[in-house]
Amino acid sequence: MAPASTPTHRLSDGTDAPLVGFGTYPLRGEEGIAAMVSALEAGYRYLDTAVNYENEEEVGEALRRSGVPREEVRVATKVPGRFHARDLALQSLHDSAGRLGLEQLDVALIHWPNPSRDLYPQAWQALVEAQQEGLVRTIGVSNFTEAHLARIVEESGVTPALNQLELHPLFPQEQMRAVHERLGILTQAWSPLGKRQAPFAADPVAAAAEAHGVSPGQVILRWHVQLGSMPLPKSATPSRQRENLDVTGFALTDDEVTAITGLARPDGRLFGGDPDTHEEM
Ligand SMILES: NC(=O)c1ccc[n+]([C@@H]2O[C@H](COP(=O)([O-])OP(=O)(O)OC[C@H]3O[C@@H](n4cnc5c(N)ncnc54)[C@H](OP(=O)(O)O)[C@@H]3O)[C@@H](O)[C@H]2O)c1
Repeated sequence: MAPASTPTHRLSDGTDAPLVGFGTYPLRGEEGIAAMVSALEAGYRYLDTAVNYENEEEVGEALRRSGVPREEVRVATKVPGRFHARDLALQSLHDSAGRLGLEQLDVALIHWPNPSRDLYPQAWQALVEAQQEGLVRTIGVSNFTEAHLARIVEESGVTPALNQLELHPLFPQEQMRAVHERLGILTQAWSPLGKRQAPFAADPVAAAAEAHGVSPGQVILRWHVQLGSMPLPKSATPSRQRENLDVTGFALTDDEVTAITGLARPDGRLFGGDPDTHEEM
């Protein structure tokens, strides 16, 4: 079977993304760089950062230290809420490229819509312009609802290539995954394991781990892959980093996938991050 770093997702803009990416929050400083270098050595080829993670310099440094050819890795960053006005968003993208030490950003997202400020369509316009200028290759959003997506598509005529959402077994985002399917948007998953509430010991996860001779973490990441979602697990632990990439050597049955999705709770969000009300600047 192909390693997980093999490009597998074809985005609507013609670029590729691997099956599993690497979440970099809250990796910072020398320890953070070491963790990211070890992730690149393990085979990760997609690094997810953000202005608000305050680690873009570290991501750029890890990329250089790893010796992995620049063109093999996709680096994604995000525009924070305080920079949604068009000119500020463009400046934010230039500043991110500078901190990362990259001429071009592979992926840029709007971090949260912050609807009470009502400026996310301007931020989206800035991303569209940045893509036209060649500063960014792939443009997308994060934490956008169906209504937020509809508004930016209607106002700009441009559909995001991906939407990064909270998605894990306790909150499987069935409705948003269907919306993405209809619009040709890749679903990316943040907190894909469920972070501190990861349901490693829940019956459907533990039973599948036992049946396939893999870890509960691998079961959950394989569940994402079979849903068509691209998970971005974070780990500072080299053995877990390798394990989290190793999800192509087995397949869950349809019943196992359904049982894991059945762990969903109505209040399954980890910290109440409803994009209609939760705002981050
Ligand atoms: N767009 C957004 O609004 C948003 C919001 C939150 C997060 N994110 C992105 O999503 C990424 C991942 O999210 P997250 O860190 O919140 O959640 P996560 O990846 O679900 O969980 C990370 C935690 O799980 C542990 N872990 C990793 N692999 C494991 C395994 N195989 N077995 C057992 N434990 C394991 C890690 O510990 P160790 O490190 O100690 O191994 C860490 O404590 C972030 O880094 C960030 O890039 C985006």
